[in-house]
Amino acid sequence: MPSSKSSVLVIGSGAREHALAWKLQQSPSVEHVFIAPGNGSTEFEVPKSVDVNDATSIRSFCVARGISLVVVGPEGPLCKGIVDEIEAGNVDGKEIYCFGPPKAGARLEDSKKFSKHFMKANGLPTAGFEDFRSVEEAKAFIERVNWPSYVLKADGLAAGKGVIIVDGVEEAKKVAERMLGGEFGKASSEIVIEEKLEGYEVSALCFTDGKTFARMPFTQDHKPLLEGDRGPNTGGMGVVGPLVLPSEVEAEIDQVLQNTITALQKSNIPYKGCLYAGFMVTSKGCKLLEFNCRFGDPETEVLMRLLDSDLYTICVACSRGTLTSTEISWKAQNVVGIVLASEGYPAKPIVNRKVGGVPEHNEETVVFHAGTKLTEEGLVTSGGRVFCVVSVGNSFQEARNRALAVSEQIQFEGKYYRRDIGHFLFNKGNVSYSASGVDIAEGNALVASIKDVCLSTRTPGTESIGGFGALVDLKAEGFHTPQLVIGMDGVGTKIAVAEATGHFDGLGYDLVGMCVNDVLCHCARPVAFLDYYVTGRLVKEEAAAVIRSIAKACKESGCALVGGETAEMPGVYNPGQWDVAGCCIGAREASWPQLPLVDAVSEGDVLLALPSNGLHSNGFSLVRKIVSDNGFSYKDPAPWNPQVSIGEELLRPTKLYVKSVLGALKSGKVKAIAHITGGGITENLPRVFPPHVAAEIECGSWSIPEVFDWLHSNGPVSPPEMLKTFNCGVGLILVVDPKHQEAVTDSLIDNGESSIYKIGNIVKQTTKDQIVYKNMENTFKYRFVKTQTRKINVAILISGAGSNMKKLIEKSLYAKSNCTVRVVISNKADAGGIAIARSYGIETVVVPSVGAREDYEAIITKELEKRGIELICLAGFMRILTASFIGRWKNRIINIHPSLLPSFKGAHAVQLALEAKVKIAGCTAHFADVEVDAGAIIAQEAVPVYDDDTEDSLHERIKVKEHIVFAEAMETVAKSFLAKDA
Ligand SMILES: *[C@@H]1O[C@H](CO)[C@@H](O)[C@H](O)[C@H]1NC(C)=O
Ligand SMILES: *[C@@H]1O[C@H](CO)[C@@H](O)[C@H](O)[C@H]1NC(C)=O
Repeated sequence: MPSSKSSVLVIGSGAREHALAWKLQQSPSVEHVFIAPGNGSTEFEVPKSVDVNDATSIRSFCVARGISLVVVGPEGPLCKGIVDEIEAGNVDGKEIYCFGPPKAGARLEDSKKFSKHFMKANGLPTAGFEDFRSVEEAKAFIERVNWPSYVLKADGLAAGKGVIIVDGVEEAKKVAERMLGGEFGKASSEIVIEEKLEGYEVSALCFTDGKTFARMPFTQDHKPLLEGDRGPNTGGMGVVGPLVLPSEVEAEIDQVLQNTITALQKSNIPYKGCLYAGFMVTSKGCKLLEFNCRFGDPETEVLMRLLDSDLYTICVACSRGTLTSTEISWKAQNVVGIVLASEGYPAKPIVNRKVGGVPEHNEETVVFHAGTKLTEEGLVTSGGRVFCVVSVGNSFQEARNRALAVSEQIQFEGKYYRRDIGHFLFNKGNVSYSASGVDIAEGNALVASIKDVCLSTRTPGTESIGGFGALVDLKAEGFHTPQLVIGMDGVGTKIAVAEATGHFDGLGYDLVGMCVNDVLCHCARPVAFLDYYVTGRLVKEEAAAVIRSIAKACKESGCALVGGETAEMPGVYNPGQWDVAGCCIGAREASWPQLPLVDAVSEGDVLLALPSNGLHSNGFSLVRKIVSDNGFSYKDPAPWNPQVSIGEELLRPTKLYVKSVLGALKSGKVKAIAHITGGGITENLPRVFPPHVAAEIECGSWSIPEVFDWLHSNGPVSPPEMLKTFNCGVGLILVVDPKHQEAVTDSLIDNGESSIYKIGNIVKQTTKDQIVYKNMENTFKYRFVKTQTRKINVAILISGAGSNMKKLIEKSLYAKSNCTVRVVISNKADAGGIAIARSYGIETVVVPSVGAREDYEAIITKELEKRGIELICLAGFMRILTASFIGRWKNRIINIHPSLLPSFKGAHAVQLALEAKVKIAGCTAHFADVEVDAGAIIAQEAVPVYDDDTEDSLHERIKVKEHIVFAEAMETVAKSFLAKDA
């Protein structure tokens, strides 16, 4: 009966609205679907006459076209009260109902503060919070609660971007100050500060008519821009659904939704449409993060493909209060949605790029348009998120492969999408809690497989793994009047090198080494050890390899592995991420020397060094940087030992000194002993000194393993920096009275040491330094340098979004580049480019341009010098530089200017070019000179000027060239520097 059909108007222009319209169109009760203002999709009629912000305009269109249902997609119009206004016109026979809450209900999203108070008042579980208008009060609160991490939210709508998560009190105070200072304009004149919850996030959306609700399947969005959940947060890069949660979690969420609906009724808050509740599933239950008063984007695109029932019927039921009697069913399929984003998204998406290759919808895949528009030239991009490609499959793998194939096929310049949507679901082939949760079976299998290994470390006084705790009987260990010495350590970022080379097994040995050597320094014998192993996803074989190597080192140092904790923490650690920590319990007789005998250390004492076995576990952050800066591979042969790889050399295990050293310590002939770990000799040796003495160390008096020369030369790392970062070949230093030097040396050799070096003496302190290195220039040899890979150290100065900066960074990441971007310096703390630079792992520094120019330029120069910067690129740095700064960095500062210099210098180059009616404009990369835009030209590129060009359209065209020209100019200059070196 065609006469009973009715038409629908969907308000909005994103992929969410496209998906809703697509689903409504399939309803047998729907005649026609209109969408306003719409996007580049041509599936639905876009009535140009409708002003979506004006209820009168919407109503008159609806009346004219026989529309009885308006579905409002975005939160903006809902929060302004569009539903109230449309429905206010309802009189007999002219009913137009809306799907979406009235203004009072939309406040749940509109005001974060209202929403949090609503949760609190109605006993809905949520994180602790407080709201503020005053910077002082906010800061005081942050200090008082002292949470490890904070979530700061702008109270008003900030287009999904008004939420900032930070670690630590100081960071939180800074962000609060920025937000209340107007970072998001009026939206952040009031902010909510919340404790950050730990767990995993789940989006629970439900249909509701205000009296009852029907929950939709759970989905999970992927907010970070980059694969592996890295990079800046976005509006969402992809979604998977349905997500199966443990039934107790589902029940808990449903209960919270029920309580929310009841609370809305009790509080007389009218609500209908879609209620979106964001949850964090924590170890203490499910907590509400936020409410949204509309469908999520991109969740909706996936949900519409899962919905089996008629969306029109559901929307009508919600808008008329008859949801109870409506059946809603969902398809038993797996759906993956992948968002295709524009270059520059989320900071500054580049738009107006031609789109091609968009396929027709089919059973498997539907492409929803988000940021597209139709122009005379055809379809072009018009926003950050351009499409959402949604595919169904019988498994997530199948769905994702289909969506990836179509994502590949769609073309536009600068297209970016994540290939790993749903990564946390794979490997297991099923969506289940064990895929996003803890795998008990794997844990039990692990315990079984390492039990024997642990048992083998048993000593007379210890019991082995398995109990709640472990008993250590020190009498049985041979102690009469024992004292305990306890030490704890980890292996730092050595773990990342192990990961990169695939050799994990040595790390357990390192862990034990770091701990037992510490305990040894107190003249104690290690008796028991406990380990903590944590990972995002437990893989029995990997964990067992690490624990076996812990056991091996325990055995070699005579201590028992008595227990430990193996934790699987999905969501906190990514699969494949892991860490270990260990705790060593040592015991000593009260009668043994209580080392270090700090006050006994005196002038004339000799310093005896025991060789290390390489880097041990320290300085690896710097090692990794040197490896990556130089383009080394861990698999390359070590230049000093080509039979083994660089990786293997770096991973050499920490030496254990207990067996060879304890006897000498107990003999009473050693005054103090220092374990040389992070901080090197420079920072570890003074820990055993009284204040009035110093150590005079003769550099070159001990043998330095080649790996240290290699690090020194390739860093390059200066000798003082080497000596305070690495052990530089010295694992332990013993402080000994000269009369005992021989006896101690003999004891060490007899017990297994091969060489002992006398590296210096204790002297009277004459300078402020407690370590005085003599002949430091002799310490390291400059060798093993891969000369052809020397790169020019580049700094980029920005003030804004840094789109040129991004191109420079990308260029520098090519293997053949002669540049390495060491630092990005901004004069504005809120410059968008800062987050982008960080997402590439590049250090950023903010130097506010306040006070005298000379002063802040001096700070910049210091930052540049500190990093050995050789070339400075100005990428939208909005300050004029002084002659003295330019003089200090003569011929080392380059800039990009949007004109063909020498025409149109200065700040309004594009406007001037237009006014001059030139036919050709362009850009110029040039050296900075005292006179603005007058330095030597490095490269130029022309672009045409069209008759209908505006300043914006011309500037856009120039920018495209700028991105290429500037990055090439950087390489050109770098190459010329290298040529001068040679
Ligand atoms: C996936 O998990 C569900 C729910 O736990 C279970 O019923 C189903 O059998 C599993 N399917 C496979 C292929 O393992
Ligand atoms: C880097 O410098 C080398 C040698 O100076 C040169 O061959 C190479 O082309 C340069 N790379 C780039 C990207 O300019």
